[in-house]
Amino acid sequence: MPIRAIVEAPAKVNLALDITGIAENGYHLLDMLMQAIGLSERVEVSKSMGYSLRLPKSRVKANEKNTATKAAAAFFRETGLLAGADIVVHKATPTRAGLGGGSADAAAVLVALNELYGARLSLTELCEIGLTVGSDVPFALVGGTARVEGVGEIITPLKTLPPCFFAIGMPQSGVSTPAAFELYDQTGGAVHPDVAAGAAAINAGNLAALYPHMQNALEETSGGETAAAMRRILHAAGAATAVMTGSGAAVFGVFTAESGAQTAAKQLEQNGFTAYVTRPVAHGARVVQLD
Ligand code: C5P
Repeated sequence: MPIRAIVEAPAKVNLALDITGIAENGYHLLDMLMQAIGLSERVEVSKSMGYSLRLPKSRVKANEKNTATKAAAAFFRETGLLAGADIVVHKATPTRAGLGGGSADAAAVLVALNELYGARLSLTELCEIGLTVGSDVPFALVGGTARVEGVGEIITPLKTLPPCFFAIGMPQSGVSTPAAFELYDQTGGAVHPDVAAGAAAINAGNLAALYPHMQNALEETSGGETAAAMRRILHAAGAATAVMTGSGAAVFGVFTAESGAQTAAKQLEQNGFTAYVTRPVAHGARVVQLD
C-alpha cells in the first residue's frame, strides 16, 4: 500500500464568464467556459494519524481556512475514515488571481486521499465533496475544457481546445472573490458573453470563432484600469484576444505561436506585472507518483 501520493493539479482560466442570476443562498449563478492550464500546483500527501499542512516558499497561510485543510476535513467527514494527512503544497499560481490555485490544491488533496485510503470514490462523488470546499473545485477535478454552470456543479465537457498559448499577466495586488461579486451586485454589468456560442465554437474546433465570446461579466467592475492596461499590452504584443479570468485580477491573452506569448510576457514584466506563459491541458488533478 502506498503511503505518499504526489498530485499535479492544473490551474485554470475562464475563457468566458457570465452571471445569469442569484441562487437562493446568495451565490451567483454562472455560465462559464473553463480551461485547465499547464501552470499547475504540486501537492504531496502522506498518510498520517494527525494533520499537518506546509506551503514552502509561499505566503499563503496554512490554517483552517486553507482549501487543502477544508478538502481533507470534507473527505474524512464524508467517508467516515478515522485517519489524517500530512500535506505539502508547492504553489505555482498566484493567489487572488482568478486562476483557481486554491481550488486546484483542494482537488489535489481529494484525489490523493481517495487513492491513499482506497476509498474508491467516483469522480462524481469527489466533485460533490469538492463543491462543499469551493465552487471551482469540481472543475479542478475534471479539468480539460468544459462549460460550467450553476454554482460550479454542472459540468459539460467540451472538445479539447485547438492548440494555442496563453500569456498571463498578474498585478502586484489581487482581487478578493466575495468583494468582486459584491461590487457586481452594487453596480451590475453590461457584459454578457454568449457562452453557448463559445461552447459551439470550441466543439467545432474553431478558435477564431471563440474569440468574440471570450468576455467576463466581472471585468468591468473588478478589472478596472489595471486589467485594461494588461489587455492593451497583450493586444499590442499580438494577442488574438485578451480577457480577465475568474474574479480577477489576472488577465490572459491568446496566441497561436509560443513566441508571441513569450514576447507578450516580457512586455507585461517590463510594465511591472508578473507574467506566465502556458498552454491548455486536457486533464484535471491527477496522481503522478505513488511511494
Ligand atoms: O466558492 P468560492 O470559495 O470560490 O467562493 C468565494 C465567495 O465568492 C463566496 O463566499 C461568495 O461570496 C462568492 N461567490 C458567489 N457566487 C459564486 C461563487 C462565489 O457569490 N458562484
